[in-house]
Amino acid sequence: MKIAMVGSGYVGLVSGACFADFGHEVVCIDKDQAKIDRLHAGVMPIYEPGLEALVETNVKGGRLSFTTSLADGISGADAIFIAVGTPSRRGDGHADLTFVYEVAREVGENLAGDAVIVTKSTVPVGTGDEVERIIRDTGTRHRISVVSNPEFLREGAAIGDFKRPDRIVIGAEDDFGREVMREVYRPLYLNESPILFTSRRTSELIKYAANAFLATKITFINEMADLCEKVGANVQDVSRGIGMDNRIGSKFLHAGPGYGGSCFPKDTLALLKTAEDYDSPTRIVEAVVKVNDSRKRAMGRKVVDALGGVDAARGKKAALLGLTFKPNTDDMRDSPAIAVAQTLMDAGVAVAAYDPEGMEQARPLLPEVTMCDDPYAAIAGADVVVIVTEWDAFRALDLKRVKELANAPLLVDLRNIYNPDDMAAAGFTYLSVGRG
Ligand code: UDX
Repeated sequence: MKIAMVGSGYVGLVSGACFADFGHEVVCIDKDQAKIDRLHAGVMPIYEPGLEALVETNVKGGRLSFTTSLADGISGADAIFIAVGTPSRRGDGHADLTFVYEVAREVGENLAGDAVIVTKSTVPVGTGDEVERIIRDTGTRHRISVVSNPEFLREGAAIGDFKRPDRIVIGAEDDFGREVMREVYRPLYLNESPILFTSRRTSELIKYAANAFLATKITFINEMADLCEKVGANVQDVSRGIGMDNRIGSKFLHAGPGYGGSCFPKDTLALLKTAEDYDSPTRIVEAVVKVNDSRKRAMGRKVVDALGGVDAARGKKAALLGLTFKPNTDDMRDSPAIAVAQTLMDAGVAVAAYDPEGMEQARPLLPEVTMCDDPYAAIAGADVVVIVTEWDAFRALDLKRVKELANAPLLVDLRNIYNPDDMAAAGFTYLSVGRG
């Protein structure tokens, strides 16, 4: 199979490299000349474990190539994936589909043979219909089928998620679309990954419903964590206690500072907009968005309280360990760390920080934060140490050294990676989430 991947960002690059690894011939296309030049030189535009090696092997094997020319890239392709960004539109939260529609038009104008066009970008219900209309309006004489195939890749685990998916969702309206997609995913099908064929609109909605449900699960356990603190219960045990019920499931029940990242915040907002447009309110998701937004600053206030309240906190120093929205990524989008740092600085607390991969992206977002070369440099002279992201590097801090370097043995752990008894034994005043 020949596959063209339009958009060589996170989703396009990971998907393209994985398809090539399955033996397909893949061309990744991107308008950004600098990005394509870097890819030719083997430099990845994002940090994702295993991606560089995967790209290198498949480029060497002649199965993966890069180009800025859409016309060249899609020539002879059986399947053309659209994997460009769909950011939140300024002002109203709608997904901005400008890039998707631009690509659709260009694909239609440059089609040189029959092809299945696949939207992999997360797009609101009905986008496939519009993509089809745009392509047909270009007057192409070739047979096309427009298919929806959402991605469910987690940053930091994207290659594993692609190669061993819980399921593959394909929304197609005709046999041509279904047959080509079956071929595209045949290697995974042989691995017994279930493929769910649905209508195109259903498939588009599945993506939003999945992310909204996961965001709801996290927000639910975060509220339970607050309640645990009030009633003197332990949220980790609550998670275990409810997660062992198969109907609930144990995953995505870790209480923390609120969800962030490139998907959940954007996709929940876009779902709310769709629900509003169709006059079918999704009140649960509305509440999730509000609760999660306010939680991020609340975590900053928790640290201010730990410092003795607003008056006592002024002029003190906090060390933030971890800035990215989760570990194993350099992605800062909607990271709770931003609100935590901002709330602290608003209260007159100086902030120093360290993150293993995210500092370059964090710098422009948090210009007043002092970025340090290692965790201990951030901790030196700090009145409170705050674990914001659960990078492995923070799971086994040298606690003796932390105590020596810090101004006070006060640690706020927003990811519950330490054991309260161990911390007490090590002489720390230790605050975590939902372990009252
Ligand atoms: C998510 C979805 O998991 C993926 O299927 C989708 O395609 C894209 O969005 P990602 O944004 O990479 O992936 O991160 P994920 O691992 O899902 O975490 C999202 C946020 O939720 C992070 O901020 C994380 O820290 C938080 N989270 C996750 C929790 O606070 N508790 C949990 O139990 C799980």
